[in-house]
Amino acid sequence: MATRTPIVGGNWKMNTTRASAVSLAETVATSCREHTATCDVVIFPPFPYLSAVGEALGDSGVQLGAQDVYHESDGAFTGEVSTAMLRDIGVNAVILGHSERRHVIGEDDALIHRKLLATLEADLLVIFCVGETLEQREAGQTETIVLGQLESGLTDVPASRLVQMVIAYEPVWAIGTGRTASPEDAQAVHACIRTAVASRYDDVTADSLRIQYGGSVKADNASALFAQPDIDGGLIGGASLDGGAFASIVREASRISHGASA
Ligand code: PGA
Repeated sequence: MATRTPIVGGNWKMNTTRASAVSLAETVATSCREHTATCDVVIFPPFPYLSAVGEALGDSGVQLGAQDVYHESDGAFTGEVSTAMLRDIGVNAVILGHSERRHVIGEDDALIHRKLLATLEADLLVIFCVGETLEQREAGQTETIVLGQLESGLTDVPASRLVQMVIAYEPVWAIGTGRTASPEDAQAVHACIRTAVASRYDDVTADSLRIQYGGSVKADNASALFAQPDIDGGLIGGASLDGGAFASIVREASRISHGASA
């Protein structure tokens, strides 16, 4: 079994200005460059700043990602952006199924699934987010919800495409709240996701799949989370807007060595 390369994403959400986005990207490029050989680092700025941020990242090895995409290739879809447009400006990863798109914007499993298939087809990396709400967790439904979202996303996705996917487990109650899942609780869900992928596909596919944790990851809790055997990095919101904090999290992730044969 090969070691899984850790991956850290910086999801800037609807924050920054053109100037602050470029400046933050420059900081990330400088501080994360040395880690990109051992950890995949991707930042997800707002759409209008993608090109400028891509230029600021230069040859640092930090990759450029988009926070969303539409599944149609072109045409009368006012306000939407296609995979080809993203590729055209140097984007190589897309977040799909984020809880804010599910619960604030109202995207359902069917739409997310159409976007996911189109994004894989375009040879972009998919960061596919799954996670339960507080109500669902308290009702003991965490596994059912997470595995249901996973199953819906993976429908019609062949094993050969899983190298192009990262699963982000993001409990909704932990996003932007300062409330992080305990490393043990997060690990339990990550292990459950990996087991489900093994039974849907096979052990080799499941062992090579990267599963990130997201939800109030900060510089001071990253190492305990990343020490868990099935946590292969993080999707970072708030802390990714602070270049120094983000670089510390990337440094912690670059030390992970999970998935190697025992
Ligand atoms: P947070 O966001 O780190 O601010 O909790 C995580 C995310 O939404 O991906």
